[in-house]
Amino acid sequence: MIVTDLHIPAGVGWTALLTAYGRAQESRDPGGLVCDPFASMFIQALSGGRVSGGDGLPRLGPAVDDRSSTLWTAWRFYFSQRTPFYDQRIMHAIGEGAQQVVLLAAGLDSRAFRLGWTERVTVFELDQAAVLDFKQAILTRHGASPTCHRVPLAVDLRGDWPATLRAAGFDPALRTVWVAEGLLMYLSRSEADWLLTTMTALSAPGSRFASEYFNNAWHDADIASDTLDDQDWAAWNLVRGAFRYGPVTDTPAAWLTGHGWTPDQITTLVELARQDNRTVPPEFGRAKAPQAWLFDGAYRPATTTD
Ligand SMILES: C[S@@+](CC[C@H](N)C(=O)[O-])C[C@H]1O[C@@H](n2cnc3c(N)ncnc32)[C@H](O)[C@@H]1O
Repeated sequence: MIVTDLHIPAGVGWTALLTAYGRAQESRDPGGLVCDPFASMFIQALSGGRVSGGDGLPRLGPAVDDRSSTLWTAWRFYFSQRTPFYDQRIMHAIGEGAQQVVLLAAGLDSRAFRLGWTERVTVFELDQAAVLDFKQAILTRHGASPTCHRVPLAVDLRGDWPATLRAAGFDPALRTVWVAEGLLMYLSRSEADWLLTTMTALSAPGSRFASEYFNNAWHDADIASDTLDDQDWAAWNLVRGAFRYGPVTDTPAAWLTGHGWTPDQITTLVELARQDNRTVPPEFGRAKAPQAWLFDGAYRPATTTD
C-alpha cells in the first residue's frame, strides 16, 4: 500500500502503527501515561496531515480518535498502559550500568529519541525492513535526532539476527537491556524459547530482559463482538490469526527461571492499571479475561555474584 511516497507496512508490521496510534492519543490526554511526541508524527503522516499532537487523528483500521469503538478502547488501554512499565524498567537497568538496549520488534518505538539517555548508551532497534523504512522516512522528514547512539537493524527475529546485531557493534561483554514489547504473542512457544536462549547466549551477567505475553488465547467471546464494524473485524482477525502466544503455558517466573534468568518485577496490565487508578475495560477486567503478564528479569549465571 502506498500513500504519497510512504510505503505503509502491511500484516504484522501494520500493528506497529496501531501501538503508535494508542501512544499518540495517550500523549495528548491530560494526565496521560505516555509522553511520546513522535507517535502522532507517524500517524499524521498517513493522512499527509499535521505533525503536532492536535486534534483529529485519522481513523486507522480499528483505531478511532474517540470512544466509539469498544475494541479500540481496550487496545488503546493495553498499548498505553504497558509503555511506562518498559520505560521504567529500561531506565532502571541503565541506572544499574547497562550500556546497550536491544529493542526486539521496535516498531515505531521512539525511546531512542525521547528517553533521557546518557551519551554512552547504544539503542539497537530490530524490526522488519518495511517498518524501519517507514519510520526512517518520517523521522528524516522531521529532522529528528536521537539522544543516544541509535542503530536500526532490519532483521527477521526468527532468523540469524544475532549475526546482524554483532556486525553492527553489539558487544556481548557489556550489560544489555533486552526489550520485547508486543512481540512474544506473535511467536510460537519454540520460537520464543529460541529467542530467549539466543539472547541468553549474548547476555553479560547483570543484563535484563523486559517483555510481556498473554496467559490465555483470545476468542471472539472475549470481546463485545456485536459492536465491531468491518474495520474492527479485519484488525481483530489479523491479530488473532497472527498470534501464536509464545510461552503461554508458563508463568513468566517459570519461563525466565527455566532459561537461567532471575525474575524481578512480574505484574499484569490490570494490576498496573489499578495501581494507577485507571479504568479497566471489560475485555481485560472481567473474570477469566486473558491477562497480559508484564515482567522483567536479570541474567545472573550461577558462577557470578552479579
Ligand atoms: C505490535 S508491534 C509492536 C512494536 C513496538 N514494540 C511497540 O510496542 O510499539 C509488533 C512488531 O513486531 C514486529 N515483528 C513481528 N514479527 C517479527 C519478526 N519475525 N521479525 C521482525 N519483526 C517482527 C512487527 O514488524 C511489528 O513492528
